[in-house]
Amino acid sequence: MKVTDRTGEEAVQRHIKRGKLLARERIQLLTDRGSFFMELSPFASWDQYNNDFPSAGIITGIGIVHGRETVIVANDATVKGGTYIPETIRKHLRAQEIAMKNHLPCVYLVDSGGVFLPEQARVFPDRDHFGRIFYNQARMSAMGIPQIAVVMGSSTAGGAYVPAMCDETIMVRHQATVFLGGPPLVKAATGEVVTAEELGGADVHTSLSGVADYLAENDRQALELCRDILARRNKTLHRFADRQTPEDPAYDPAELYGVIPSDLRKGLDPYEVIARITDGSRFHEFKARYGTSLVTGFAHIMGYPVGIIANNGILFSDSALKATHFIELCKKRFIPLVFLQNIAGFIVGKEYEQAGIAKDGAKMVHAVATANVPKFTVITGRSYGAGNYAMAGRAYDPELLFMWPNAEIGVMGGEQAAMVLTMVKEDQMRSKGLTFSNEEKEKMEQEILLRYKMENSAWFSTSRVWDDGIIDPAMTRQYIASGISMTLYHEWDQPSQGIYRM
Ligand code: COA
Repeated sequence: MKVTDRTGEEAVQRHIKRGKLLARERIQLLTDRGSFFMELSPFASWDQYNNDFPSAGIITGIGIVHGRETVIVANDATVKGGTYIPETIRKHLRAQEIAMKNHLPCVYLVDSGGVFLPEQARVFPDRDHFGRIFYNQARMSAMGIPQIAVVMGSSTAGGAYVPAMCDETIMVRHQATVFLGGPPLVKAATGEVVTAEELGGADVHTSLSGVADYLAENDRQALELCRDILARRNKTLHRFADRQTPEDPAYDPAELYGVIPSDLRKGLDPYEVIARITDGSRFHEFKARYGTSLVTGFAHIMGYPVGIIANNGILFSDSALKATHFIELCKKRFIPLVFLQNIAGFIVGKEYEQAGIAKDGAKMVHAVATANVPKFTVITGRSYGAGNYAMAGRAYDPELLFMWPNAEIGVMGGEQAAMVLTMVKEDQMRSKGLTFSNEEKEKMEQEILLRYKMENSAWFSTSRVWDDGIIDPAMTRQYIASGISMTLYHEWDQPSQGIYRM
């Protein structure tokens, strides 16, 4: 599935012929020239719905407008009229969550037919479905987060609330419409015959109804107006006054392509990764001689101080304790944490259970969950089981979580799952006095292996928006630095410490 250059497609050609800009072009014009747009989850819905929804029909991310991070949510009307399937909603809500957490202004570039009706049961009724978008808008407004809508096409039914609930709304003449029910629905409901323009065009809403505030003649003018609005914002809260001058790594980040093993079981040397993401490839390692299956230390990424926690094998008690100590240091010093996840899990076995691996793992999980500093997770290899939790998986609320294309995520690896499930089956059969032939066992193993290979892949994850996107490994520095930069606008209060089981 192509997600960017789709110019060959009929819907795209139709959109261009109507004089409209494509969603990514709109974003480019809205943001500062040459600045980095951190697009989130571009492969959402990949390999689902017959691949009819590139990027789930919505482009989201963090762009720079007048030098300041801004969350951008842009409907892609060339994808089924910009309508919402479950992944579209997940992306929209995730963008709003990032805006709320980091106190970033939010721009909605609206061009959408609302709910994708065949999926309505998975899109409309539940808490985190379509209605949550407008609930969030109200809460964000109450939090003092500026929200601007630029309506550049349809804004239909519930979707009409997006512009209606924004602080300021721009509409493009003869192109934008906002109404709760379109002309066919009006006719069916009341018999009234009305054109879309009379019902909810830009002229009507900027002169009669007051639903919108500014009239623009075309996409470009609308985006320029939006930039003008955003120019009048408060200054940032600079927490990292000691940000250093950014410096390239001494080792070329492009060499990461050669560092990543073709087979994840071969291991990925975290020092080789760290050398290719940190300024000057400098790394001040903490507790280098202790708990060596985990690497911890301080560095700078594009000038920002960071604390890096990288797996170098599975987690043992000593490595979990070392991580806990290191996280406490970063919390006290307010240093953002970067987790480089490549973890098959915690050590298992009698010796380790009796020594209390569960309580030491719990300390690390506590520390990660309550570390109120910006956290960023990059899954560079495997992310299995409780290792995922301890290394700031999605449930631990990192500000952003990215996958490398080679990454895997799941409760365990395919081989382990095949072994566990066939053993359980074998025991079951034996207790019933039945036999489990080798052929049956092998068939079951193969099925499980195949299924896990598919479900554990980074592509399966990103399609379902379990992460913020698959990134080019050589761009890892840029994503982390942009991520830190977006966290500088609000105060981070520290929650009190929980009880660590000793
Ligand atoms: N649900 C499901 N599919 C929809 C849809 C919806 N709400 N709105 C549009 N589509 C589909 C169309 O069937 C078409 O699919 P196809 O490419 O497989 O043929 C595709 O999206 C593009 O629609 P089309 O009408 O050809 O494009 P357009 O750019 O001329 O118009 C809209 C787009 C959104 C303005 C128009 O389709 C529309 O008004 N849709 C209904 C919106 C609505 O009433 N939504 C209420 C739900 S809250």
